[in-house]
Amino acid sequence: WGKQDSRVPKQRLLVVANRLPVSAIRKSEDSWALEISVGGLVSALLGINEFEARWIGWAGVNVPDEIGQRSLTEALAEKRCIPVFLDEEIVHQYYNGYCNNILWPLFHYLGLPQEDRLATTRSFQSQFAAYKEANQMFADVVNEHYRDGDVVWCHDYHLMFLPKCLKEHNNKMKVGWFLHTPFPSSEIHRTLPSRSELLRSVLAADLVGTLKDLQYYELECQRVHSYSGAQGTPDGVEDQGKLTRVAAAFPIGIDSERFVRALELPQVKDHIKELKERFAGRKVMLGVDRLDMIKGIPQKILAFEKFLEENPIWRDKVVLVQIAVPTRTDVPEYQKLSSQVHEIVGRINGRFGSLTADRSLDFHALCALYAVTDVALVTSLRDGMNLVSYEFVACQASKKGVLILSEFAGAAQSLGAGAILVNPWNVTEVAASIGYALTMPADEREKRHRHNFTHVTTHTSQEWAETFVSELNDTVVEAQLRTRQ
Ligand code: F6P
Repeated sequence: WGKQDSRVPKQRLLVVANRLPVSAIRKSEDSWALEISVGGLVSALLGINEFEARWIGWAGVNVPDEIGQRSLTEALAEKRCIPVFLDEEIVHQYYNGYCNNILWPLFHYLGLPQEDRLATTRSFQSQFAAYKEANQMFADVVNEHYRDGDVVWCHDYHLMFLPKCLKEHNNKMKVGWFLHTPFPSSEIHRTLPSRSELLRSVLAADLVGTLKDLQYYELECQRVHSYSGAQGTPDGVEDQGKLTRVAAAFPIGIDSERFVRALELPQVKDHIKELKERFAGRKVMLGVDRLDMIKGIPQKILAFEKFLEENPIWRDKVVLVQIAVPTRTDVPEYQKLSSQVHEIVGRINGRFGSLTADRSLDFHALCALYAVTDVALVTSLRDGMNLVSYEFVACQASKKGVLILSEFAGAAQSLGAGAILVNPWNVTEVAASIGYALTMPADEREKRHRHNFTHVTTHTSQEWAETFVSELNDTVVEAQLRTRQ
């Protein structure tokens, strides 16, 4: 990730995220295959090359033995990645439990788990303890690799405790923290038993950034902390004499060039040709999502079914390709969702045969699919930015297809003028939007695409990272000046 030019001295950046940009698969005692990880954070951070960057995180695999840990560390070093080794029990309690069964649904407005509330309440303490323990393990690896002057950039809801661990060890460390998910309104957030401790830990950072929902975040910091004397100031939040800048939201982007370049590769062109033959005579609609309840896959498929029911002439003229990448498969909610989606897909295919569902695609196949798509459906029930919408737009320079986009994805703020915005819960509205998108005149498609393409190619991940890191550097300098006064 992030090609480096060694001729120019660059600032060292330690990116710390739960998941490394590559996931490891063990081939033998000491050999490993590395695959690019799936997800928005990886898609954004892969484009950063203005820094001398290292990525610290979990490789998605349990490696209990010394030979395995040593050989994986070496294999990852070639990619400038540094592993944090988490054992099965920690992964179960921290990642499956606290991160993905508690924080994830809460931050996406689904509330605390609905079923078996008492069991959740009982396991809450042990999961939170594991969360803190895991965050300390990340901190230990950062401390081991940190050099004076480095910028340490912590990412996401998995690592809210990390800024505190880092600052307690070395108060001079420049620490930023960035949230890639929505931040919920207070009425939701305040149900979290550990709300105060977590927010206070984040505020140990020098700079906090969000994609959106900044107002909720600020208000919640002030509300939670007002009990203990913390105050909102025009510059940020002040807690026990320590000022954390809560900066304006930083909208994330992708490395759009990577997609544009891929479309010129012979293998991608061949793939495009094959897809065009396969779908000849039919319009192609596309969904690309991790198989996650926030993505609204069942609702999307039901809207497609409704569209076909109401518009028989389209039944053999359109196909929906839904890529649903399995994710967090050990969490029961995700297992339930997977069976639900399979059931609906089977039923609709029994009726119309117009749906193909797939588990995953490699990068080149994905670019080809984006390029032949007429209508992309990004209908998350609640989402961070949703960079799939950006990837689709980047690959549409020749086709100028239509983007149907949820108003609850962060991208609605940036691509809303070019997309058709929908409420994903409203199946009737989404079905009608499908009809509108499929019959949209070419000049309107062109105009909408131009708006989105300009945004995606100018607001890149590179720009996002540079802005955040430069604000972090400035914040630290300002804080030093303030303490000298
Ligand atoms: O912010 C959301 C995120 O952490 C992104 O990295 C990505 O969209 C997804 O979640 C990845 O999930 P996981 O690492 O649990 O597979």
